[in-house]
Amino acid sequence: MKKPETLRSARWFAPDDLRGFGHRSRIMQMGYSPEDWAGKPVIGIINTWSDINPCHAHFKQRVEDVKRGVLQAGGFPVELPAQSLAEQYVKPSTMLYRNLLAMETEELIRCHPIDGAVLMGGCDKTTPALLMGATSAGVPAIYVPAGPMLRGNWEGKTLGSGSDAWKYWDERRAGNITPVQWLGIEGGIARSHGHCMTMGTASTMTAIAEAIGMSLPGASSIPAADANHIRMCAESGRRIVQMVLEDLTPDKIQVRAAYINAIHVAMAMGCSTNAIIHLVAMARRAGCNIGLEDFDAASRNIPVIANIRPSGDTYLMEDFYYAGGLRALMARLKPHLDLGLMTVSGKTVGENLEGARVYNDDVIRSLDNAIYTEGSLAVLRGNIAPDGCVIKPAAADQRLLQHTGKALVFDSYPDMKARINRADLDVSADHVLVLRNVGPQGGPGMPEWGMIPIPQKLVEQGVRDMVRISDARMSGTSYGACILHVAPESFIGGPLALVQTGDEISIDVPARRIHLEVSPEELARRKAAHAPLPPRYERGYGWMFTRHIQQADSGCDFDFLQTGFGQPAGEPDI
Ligand code: FES
Ligand code: MG
Repeated sequence: MKKPETLRSARWFAPDDLRGFGHRSRIMQMGYSPEDWAGKPVIGIINTWSDINPCHAHFKQRVEDVKRGVLQAGGFPVELPAQSLAEQYVKPSTMLYRNLLAMETEELIRCHPIDGAVLMGGCDKTTPALLMGATSAGVPAIYVPAGPMLRGNWEGKTLGSGSDAWKYWDERRAGNITPVQWLGIEGGIARSHGHCMTMGTASTMTAIAEAIGMSLPGASSIPAADANHIRMCAESGRRIVQMVLEDLTPDKIQVRAAYINAIHVAMAMGCSTNAIIHLVAMARRAGCNIGLEDFDAASRNIPVIANIRPSGDTYLMEDFYYAGGLRALMARLKPHLDLGLMTVSGKTVGENLEGARVYNDDVIRSLDNAIYTEGSLAVLRGNIAPDGCVIKPAAADQRLLQHTGKALVFDSYPDMKARINRADLDVSADHVLVLRNVGPQGGPGMPEWGMIPIPQKLVEQGVRDMVRISDARMSGTSYGACILHVAPESFIGGPLALVQTGDEISIDVPARRIHLEVSPEELARRKAAHAPLPPRYERGYGWMFTRHIQQADSGCDFDFLQTGFGQPAGEPDI
């Protein structure tokens, strides 16, 4: 047990010198007495609430519940607002700013008198960003997930975030939905606070936070609007105070085996493709070397047992919670998990799962009644993607998983937008749509443009899926035979830059292969003639991003933030 005088915050508040006087007098300026802070763990609550993030709208109240817990346990809570990264509003992509929030989190903790941190996030990039920053900062930290919003509802039908927007948009383009009906969908698809309630990036990443042991057991499945969520917030506040006294730092939790557990859980959940990038980045911050091969190995072993859209056909996160939630899923997955690892609860993974049960076998399937027997992600390699690319086979039309077709190339997102729906576009359902210069540097920020829309003329013919290839990402709520994260990206001269319309491309997902059917000599000739594009940014954060962002297979972290880059930052000289 840590003694009060050994707390990090004591360096600010305890010394009988002029600086200590400054720190104490200014805390008293806010109406606090020594009884409030003296000798107590100071808990920084990193809150990503904002007026323009609907997924975190309830954090304005929930932070009070976290504070209540901290106070009950004898800590001193300090709220530290951080940027919100609202997925729907931040352009060109929240991914451009994931590392900025990670830096902000790390530095907020480092520069303030903080002994432990509560991390409040949930909307897609906030989870990896907060965890990456807190891991680098190294103080005890606990993750409080925002929780999924309630199921959508329209004309008596259940609506899922993202997935049903894409689905009904295609129906509207095909003339099967009226503008008035469309308005009904707009008002019904997101009807409470909380993050997307399909198995998109948010639900994937909060489950991963829990699976690596950084959230209280069961926390990630609780719907945002459920009173259990309020109680979980208070409990997290109580727990972080104990974690500080126990000195339960992230490095004691986030070992390599914890990341393998998380990969297995993600596969069983039918996870978002974005999980790969974030998990690689998070693991490397924790000093664990995780790469694409770990995902592919897991995907061959772990069946998808969470019957949640878009991999499943019916259910959403609310149903998952009622079926027992992540603890129940992890209990089913026990043969594939390391049960002896420590978690923020102070107990092991195995202890956290005691008594967990599945209450609906259709929502959380058994391992021998999976909805998809192989995992939800596959990593392909070939001459077009020497450093790999990914596909979510569970969410694709199965006949496209072995396919050869002629490439139809778009050089940028505006180029694709201008041409994709033209009546004279020379395209068939067998074509392979290629969108390039949309990667980490090209996007910039690797936007979620990988689910290239089906050309209008094919939609009208009833086509709903095609093979699509890009160096972008796609939303976890998207679906289709979309090959993503092609590395290295075309913008920096990766081979995707050399594809020409009319070239044949073959994909073979069972063999994990992708191949551009063009001779090495011809590719070398094209490469010699290829002119690099000018950088996207000349100033500010984008300038730094351009110079330091790594490729998708390395998790898109900045090189200078990775563990082992230079000496550890050390403590401020106060
Ligand atoms: Fe926030 Fe989907 S928009 S999680
Ligand atoms: Mg998303």
